[in-house]
Amino acid sequence: MTAIITTVGGQKGGTGKSMITGNLAACAARLGARVGVIDTDFSQNTTDKWHISRSNQPAAAPIDCTVRTGPDMEAQLDEWLDADAYDHIFIDTNGSDSYELRKALTRSHWFLSPIKPQPADNWTLGTVESLLLGAREFNPQLRCRVIVSCAPTHAGRRAMEIRSTLQALKQYPALEVCRTVISDRAAYLRAWLAGQGVTELASAKLTTDAMEEVSKLHQEIYL
Ligand SMILES: Nc1ncnc2c1ncn2[C@@H]1O[C@H](COP(=O)(O)OP(=O)(O)O)[C@@H](O)[C@H]1O
Ligand SMILES: [Mg+2]
Repeated sequence: MTAIITTVGGQKGGTGKSMITGNLAACAARLGARVGVIDTDFSQNTTDKWHISRSNQPAAAPIDCTVRTGPDMEAQLDEWLDADAYDHIFIDTNGSDSYELRKALTRSHWFLSPIKPQPADNWTLGTVESLLLGAREFNPQLRCRVIVSCAPTHAGRRAMEIRSTLQALKQYPALEVCRTVISDRAAYLRAWLAGQGVTELASAKLTTDAMEEVSKLHQEIYL
């Protein structure tokens, strides 16, 4: 079986790339998939740090994670693919148009690009579309979704901010947007600090909305 390779990237930091990488990885692992993650963000290593905290969660489904940059990232990917080691491989990148992002996109099935529903994030959409179209010259099968991330939960602000992002996206016809929106919720932070995905938290009033978002996102992309 060939691994599904997902690259999470964009032109901005702090949009939830690592949060979405970790949550999709944990969701897939919980469903029984063999999951490997390559964290290419050498300066922050956010996903790798999350993965280290995960060692305190003996009941959590196993995920492998490694930090690799430059050509080492591609060598790691080749090694994992040759060994048929994983069903899902996630590549988390930093918030820029980097060597790692460009290279990863030429090898991926999915390009997921989270953006916060804010003007400064909308202004990066042109770069995201260029990266997608450039990568498709080498990898025509590459699929892409923009994910609205860290959306406010306050109903009025939420509707207004999501609407303006959807409006901005109309200028970039190659960019499709996920129906599922990831909101700004304490449950994400709680799970992250514990090395978990929100779908691994105990079901409770404060966690179910986040759990549902990640399950829906996973279904929308992979099922
Ligand atoms: N959906 C969310 N709800 C609450 N906090 C979030 C959410 N997504 C990300 N964060 C927080 O926002 C910050 C940036 O997220 P991160 O995933 O590291 O962004 P990136 O990888 O794009 O730089 C982190 O402190 C993270 O814990
Ligand atoms: Mg990150």
